[in-house]
Amino acid sequence: MEKTRYPQVEMEIRKWGSKPSSLIQVLHGTQERIGYLSQNVLEYIAERLNVSLSKVYGVVTFYNFFKTQKDADHIIMTCMGTACYVKNGEEVIKAIEKYLGIKMGGKTSDGKFSLRIVRCLGACGMAPVMCIDGDDIYGRLTPEKAIEAIKRYQ
Ligand code: FES
Repeated sequence: MEKTRYPQVEMEIRKWGSKPSSLIQVLHGTQERIGYLSQNVLEYIAERLNVSLSKVYGVVTFYNFFKTQKDADHIIMTCMGTACYVKNGEEVIKAIEKYLGIKMGGKTSDGKFSLRIVRCLGACGMAPVMCIDGDDIYGRLTPEKAIEAIKRYQ
């Protein structure tokens, strides 16, 4: 089975280099883009930086700013980088906020969703884009398409 590629991680690797010494920067930047570091993401980073998985876990557990758990059942990362902004990303975000009844940075009272903003998800060609739980990237969004996608997680 083909492994998921994480464009968010690839962006950080382009910035910091695919070398073991980039580990902390790549972990940090990836968490900013995905919201937390899932096991799949940690495995992916270990492989791409040529670092053992135990070393990656060691770093992640040592620094308490790394999160390996989600703060809600589902984390929605909405993109407001330039490409997404010019393609009406703001409209999409407003619609999501209205639908979930929360503001950016908030969490629904049932703990199902948290909503975050990110500068780029590495999928600008599909702008406007959002990502749910790190793995699922939704592109060419309209407000309607975004709500439809979110409904699948309810
Ligand atoms: S600006 Fe939104 S994916 Fe790059």
